[in-house]
Parts: sequence; C-alpha cells; structure tokens
Amino acid sequence: MDGGSSEPLSERNYLLTGKFTGNFADLTHEISEEISLYLESARLVTSEPDLAYKLIRNYRPSIRELILCIREFYFAVTAHAVRTWYSSLRLFRTNNAGTPPERSVYWRYILVLMSDHLLTKDLAVPAKKKFPSSSGEMFQHYFAAKREERYQKRDLIDARARRLFENTKLACSMDAYPFQPPLSGRTGPIVEMDGHRMLMLSSYDYLGLIGDPRVDEAAIAAIRKYGTATGGARLFAGTMDLHREVEQALAEFKGTEAAVTFTSGYSANLAVISGLFGPADRVIMDVYSHRSLLDACRLAGVQVQRFEHNDPVSLRHELEHGPEANRTLIISDGVFSMDGDIGCLPELIELKKEFGCFLLMDDSHASGALGATGRGTDEHFGVQTEEVDIWTGSLAKSIPSNGGFVAVSQRVAIFLQHGASPFIFSAAVNAPAAAAILEGLKILNQEPERVTTLAANGAFLREGLQSLGYDTGLSETQVIPVILQDDAKTALLARRLRDYGVLVSPVLFPAVAQGTARLRLCVTAAHTREHLEFVLDAFDKIRSE
Ligand SMILES: Cc1ncc(COP(=O)(O)O)c(C=O)c1O
Repeated sequence: MDGGSSEPLSERNYLLTGKFTGNFADLTHEISEEISLYLESARLVTSEPDLAYKLIRNYRPSIRELILCIREFYFAVTAHAVRTWYSSLRLFRTNNAGTPPERSVYWRYILVLMSDHLLTKDLAVPAKKKFPSSSGEMFQHYFAAKREERYQKRDLIDARARRLFENTKLACSMDAYPFQPPLSGRTGPIVEMDGHRMLMLSSYDYLGLIGDPRVDEAAIAAIRKYGTATGGARLFAGTMDLHREVEQALAEFKGTEAAVTFTSGYSANLAVISGLFGPADRVIMDVYSHRSLLDACRLAGVQVQRFEHNDPVSLRHELEHGPEANRTLIISDGVFSMDGDIGCLPELIELKKEFGCFLLMDDSHASGALGATGRGTDEHFGVQTEEVDIWTGSLAKSIPSNGGFVAVSQRVAIFLQHGASPFIFSAAVNAPAAAAILEGLKILNQEPERVTTLAANGAFLREGLQSLGYDTGLSETQVIPVILQDDAKTALLARRLRDYGVLVSPVLFPAVAQGTARLRLCVTAAHTREHLEFVLDAFDKIRSE
C-alpha cells in the first residue's frame, strides 16, 4: 500500500489512498484480506444484507447519486460500469432473475460506500412547478371557456380539426400542453422558459454554435454592411456577394460543384423536387422521410411510392413493381429526424445504379453530425459524394442560422436558379442569416472536435437511458427517441420532466405513426457530462415515482 504515512490509516483513508485508482475492474485482484475485513465489518451490508437490499429498494437512489457517491471515493470508476451494475440490480429486482447482484464483490462494495449516503438521503422528489404555457396561457385560455365547438363541412375550420382541438383542450386541462415552450432568451444547453431555468434537449443546435460570439459578430457585421434584407427574390432584388460566398462555401463543404441556398430546408426540398420532376416521373421514398419531402412531391405532382424504413429489399420491390415513369428518384434522409438512425446510403447507391435512377439525400440532421469532419452521410460511409445526385439540407441545425441548401452539379444549380419556384418567387436568405451560415461553416472546419463531442454525448445519453430500461428505438446518433407508444403517457412524461428542469419535446401522432409516440431528445456538443447525468437522474427518478 502506498499511503505514504506511517500512521495507521482509517478504513476510509485506506480506500481513498489504496491501489484502486486504476481500473476498477482490476479490483478483484487487489482485494486483500484487509479489504475483505472491511467489507465484513461494514454496517448493514454484511451484517444485514436484506436490510441493505430493502434500503436500496425503498430509497431508489438514482444512478447519478450512485455515480457521484462512488466517484467521491474512486474517480477511476466509470459511469458506465456503475450503470451496468445498477441495471443488473434492477433486473434482478423486477424479474427475480439472475444472481442477486449485490452479492457480488462490486455490489457489496458499492453498498458499503453508499450506506452513509443512503441514510442521510433527501427523499423529496421535486414538487410540481408552475408552467403557465402548460395550461395553455398562450391561447388566452381559449380552452378554459365553455363553448360549443362546431366542425361543419363548410366552416373555415372543418371536421379535420376536431382531433387537434380536442387533444389540445385535454392537454391544457391536464396542465400538460407540451408545445411552443416560451423562451425568454437565447437557446443553448440551459434556457429560460416560463420563468424557470431548464436543461434544453429539444434544440437542433447540434454543434452548440448558437450564441457563439463569432457567429453573433458576423451576423451583426453583415447587418451593418448589407442591412437586414434585399427586399425580394434574388433574380430581381439582387444577389449579394455574401450569397455567392455562402454558396461556394457550402459547395466546398459538401464536395459538389455548386450549391444553391433557400430560406429554409423545407423550401430547398420543395424547390429541387418540384423544379426537376413532374407528373411523368416517380419518387420512391423511405416511409420515415421528412414531411417536407412528401410535400415537395405533392407540389411536383410526381407519383409517389414508399419503401419500408431503411430496407433495401423493400426498395427493390418498389423499383420492380411501380407504375411506368420517365425517371425515378429515390429519396432518403441521412439521419432520420424522429428515430435518429442513419439512412443506408451504400445500398441506395447500389440500387440506384442497378435500376438507372437518381438519388436524393436529405442531410439536414447529418450535416455537421456524421463523418469525422461533419461532412455528412457520404463521409460517414466513405462513399463518393457524387454518387448522390442531389444533396439537400437545413442550415438551422448544426449550422446556427436559418436557410436550406441544395448541393448539386453546376448545371443543375443554374437550372434551379431559373426553374425552381422557391428561388424565383420567394425572398432571399437575409444578410445576417447568410453571414451566420458562413461563420458556422468556418468554425466547423476549424473545430471538427465538436463533431466528436456530439457523437460521444449522443452515445452517453443513449446508453444511459437504455441501462435505465428506456426504449431508444433505432437511435445511433445525436437524436434519441424515448418510445412510450401512448400519446397521453408521452405528453405527461414531458410535463413531469419539466418539474425536474428538463425540457424535451413529445412527438405524437400524426408526426409519427399511431402507437409509436415518443419523447425526442436531441443532444448537442454544448451539453456537458453533468448536464447529461442530470437528465439521466431525472429519467431514473421519474421511473421510480
Ligand atoms: C430531414 C429534414 N429535412 C428538412 C427539414 C426542414 O428544415 P428547415 O427547418 O430548415 O425548414 C427538417 C426540419 O427539421 C428535417 O428534419
């Protein structure tokens, strides 16, 4: 033992200064007789294991408390290791299966360390807090008043609105209206909402660049130079040199010949699909593809087929069995916005080549998030960028601005500038937004470590939720669903999380299929481990309520 003191060490000091600063897993080999003695004499655990067991069950210490408590003693213990032990304890408790984990050396050890903590633990769970927006204050209490709702065929609001009104009324009456959280400041890992400081898990600010002084300064400088807008569409009111710079930077970022910007990712999809395709063509898209892509197909009037989510076999079937068409466009998202999994790009490319089709990838959630430097799905899979005919994306997620892009060949870009309605008939991206895009791309280039942090944060939260027993579905990125299936249950969980200071969005039917309601958690590179442990703690406690 290398305590460095000739004085006999107290038991706790022994533990603190012993040889266990390395890998906790090596502990087995390190357990000397003295430690065994310590364990034997420890209060509760050895003398009354059943009591210790009950104690744990009754107190339901959260995983965060366990981690914090153990870290007080052993900085070397990883949160993951603790979580694994903890979930095996839960499994044993609920299923009565396997070996009682607390009988293992590790668990005894943890219980010893926990015993003081457990006895003094504050049992209180947070009281219900007041969130005026949850009861529908923003609707001027429209739903509180007694009124006869009519949904007649010829009314402005017809029967299709019934479900929406009834559900909103119900949510407000239960103090659980979950949408439009009122923010009174800028977004970031912590936001101010309804007078409370909240941990934000609902923003797509994936790289944590919103509020970065460099981005703010660039936007302010652009307003000083160009004003707030050009006063119309680019064809007539003018294309700023800033637009050209942004488009060149986007083309370089994506590795294409050219790029064209639009005022949103939604418009970019409308523009490229309706600009290039028409009723004589067909689109085959993943069933989970973003709504903007479906709306774009409606605008284009193309024939639409859907293939099973991320399933090349189903895509092949659709390719073989669809209606006659001049051209076929395959569409997929790079990262799926509701499930957080990654589109099967290599297989899509193979099929596109085999059947002589075109391929569009919407990289809205993949740009800045996938690949070593955040270039997107192509970088993630190591495929050539030009294997995809059309790349689209939003500039309001990893890139801290507003806008959307289409990255294509120069020929297609020139065509879109003259043949895509959202380019011709809609005002241009304004100067501060354009400058923020440019600065965001520059920072991403200089600081690719943000991409790595984002992925690590995603993995940490996902694994933590899984070890607590939550269903995170298909997630493999920074988008993490917690699938609860039932709409009401999901909305109520989102509401309860607010009491704990955590802001998450529920995603309910019709945004997702019936019976697949979920919370959708989005981590960013700006979240710290403490933030994420705080979230896991809240989920853990709520589960035990
Ligand atoms: C896959 C996908 N495409 C397009 C969009 C639309 O982007 P924007 O918000 O910039 O209009 C979104 C928005 O979330 C999205 O998830």
